[in-house]
Amino acid sequence: MKTVVLYGTKYGTTKKCVDSLCEKIEGDFELIEVSEADKKTIKNADRIIIATPIYVGDFYKGIKKYCKKNLEELLKKDVYIMMCCSTKDEWLLGGYVIKNTSPLFMKHVKVFMSVGGALNYDTLTFTEKKLIDFVLKKGQNNNRQELKYMNNVEEKRIQYFADIVNGKKQ
Ligand SMILES: Cc1cc2nc3c(=O)[nH]c(=O)nc-3n(C[C@H](O)[C@H](O)[C@H](O)COP(=O)(O)O)c2cc1C
Repeated sequence: MKTVVLYGTKYGTTKKCVDSLCEKIEGDFELIEVSEADKKTIKNADRIIIATPIYVGDFYKGIKKYCKKNLEELLKKDVYIMMCCSTKDEWLLGGYVIKNTSPLFMKHVKVFMSVGGALNYDTLTFTEKKLIDFVLKKGQNNNRQELKYMNNVEEKRIQYFADIVNGKKQ
């Protein structure tokens, strides 16, 4: 059983989560950053794990593009999606998968879940900072400062995701 772990990351949190996941998945696997991936990357694999952060409801740009371009091949494989993002709400996450791929692809995917995400406001671009400021201002929260530096990555979620991929959980 060969697994390809395809990931994209802007600020590194997804890479950290992917590294942790790779310690937990069983069997032969290959870890590939999406800009290094081409058509052949997934050709000989049985399982594909797609790991992506979410930015304003969108998958990491390269991941979105890769999925679109290689949809036909991906539909022949077992596909698992690990999102690294602040929400863990299944409805929202399902919406992200459909928005970034297609309803058909969503139906094909074995599992999708969020393992949590992390933000460091200081490292964001000007536009990202403005967006975060806007969202936090509109929200009903009184812990804005905390949210700017949030980290809700859960190791036990990464383990859970690995258990599903390893066939130990449904
Ligand atoms: C500008 C911006 C927009 C974001 N939009 C969303 C979003 O729509 N949904 C979500 O759950 N998380 C969102 N996040 C949180 C990121 O997905 C999270 O910080 C993730 O861990 C970033 O991963 P990376 O470090 O691998 O790039 C957003 C973060 C930023 C900075």
